[in-house]
Amino acid sequence: MPRTEPIRLEKIKEKLQTKLIGKTIHCFSEVASTNDLAKEMATIGAKEGTVIIAETQTSGKGRLSREWASPRGGIWLSTILRPELSGKDIPKLTLMTSLAVAKTISQLFNLKTEVKWPNDVLINTRKVCGILIIANTRGGVTNFVVVGIGINANIELDSLPKQVRENATSLKHELKREIDREQFLRLLFEKMERYYVMLTGGKFSPVLKEWKSLCGFLGSYVEVTSWEEKIEGLAIDVDENGALIIRLQDGTLRKVLSGDGSLKRSKEL
Ligand code: BTN
Repeated sequence: MPRTEPIRLEKIKEKLQTKLIGKTIHCFSEVASTNDLAKEMATIGAKEGTVIIAETQTSGKGRLSREWASPRGGIWLSTILRPELSGKDIPKLTLMTSLAVAKTISQLFNLKTEVKWPNDVLINTRKVCGILIIANTRGGVTNFVVVGIGINANIELDSLPKQVRENATSLKHELKREIDREQFLRLLFEKMERYYVMLTGGKFSPVLKEWKSLCGFLGSYVEVTSWEEKIEGLAIDVDENGALIIRLQDGTLRKVLSGDGSLKRSKEL
C-alpha cells in the first residue's frame, strides 16, 4: 500500500500563483477517467482552467485506445482549456504540456528528463508521464480541449501491468522516496500556464525550441507506427504544428501528425 496521503486541495491552492490553471480544482478519490469527466464538465460549461484530479481511475484512457493503469499514489488529472486555436494547432498543447511536466520534474528533483514525441516524458529512457488530449472542435473552431496528464508519481513499479512496467518508471522508483504531490501540482500548473500564455499569444517558437532541447530522439533512427503503416528513417525535426519530420532511406521527407503515431528507436538503416 502506498503511504501517500490523499491530495489536499487547500495545500495546492495555498501558494498557487496562476490566474487560470487550477483556479477551480475538483479532487476525487475514484473516477472512471478524469478525461471523460472533464469532457462532460466542459460540455456543460465548466470554466477554462478547471482541473479534475483523481486518486485512482478505474477506466483510465491512454493513446491509441489503450488502457492507462492508474493506481493510487499517481497523479491523474485533466485540465479544461478553451483556446482560440484551430484544430491543426491542438498538437502544440501536447508539446507544451510535456515540456511543463519535464521541467517540473527536473526543477524539483534534479532528475534528467527527456520528452518523446508526441506525448511522453521519460527519465532514463523510461516513461514517467503520458498525455492525452481530447479536442472538441466544430467548423475549425475549438470549443474546448481536455488535457489529460498521467504521472507515475508515488507508485511502485509492480503496481503497473507487466507489459507496461518494462518501459515505465515512477518518481518514487527514481528517487527512492515519495514526493509531495501538492507541491508538484502547483509548479506544474504554473509552468503550464506560462507556456499556454505564450502559445495562445502567438509565441510558440520559443516553447518549441525548449521542447526540442529536451527531445532525445531528434537525430536518431526511429520507427513510427502510424495507422497501418510503419515508417523508418531519421527523425530530423518537429515542425511548428507538432508533426514529426522523418527522412526516409531514399532521401524523401515524410511528415507524421502527432495524433497518428507511436515512436521507437530503431537501428541505423
Ligand atoms: C498515453 O501515454 O497513452 C496517454 C496517457 C494519459 C493518461 C491520463 S491520466 C489522466 C487522464 N485521464 C485519462 O483517462 N487519461 C489521462
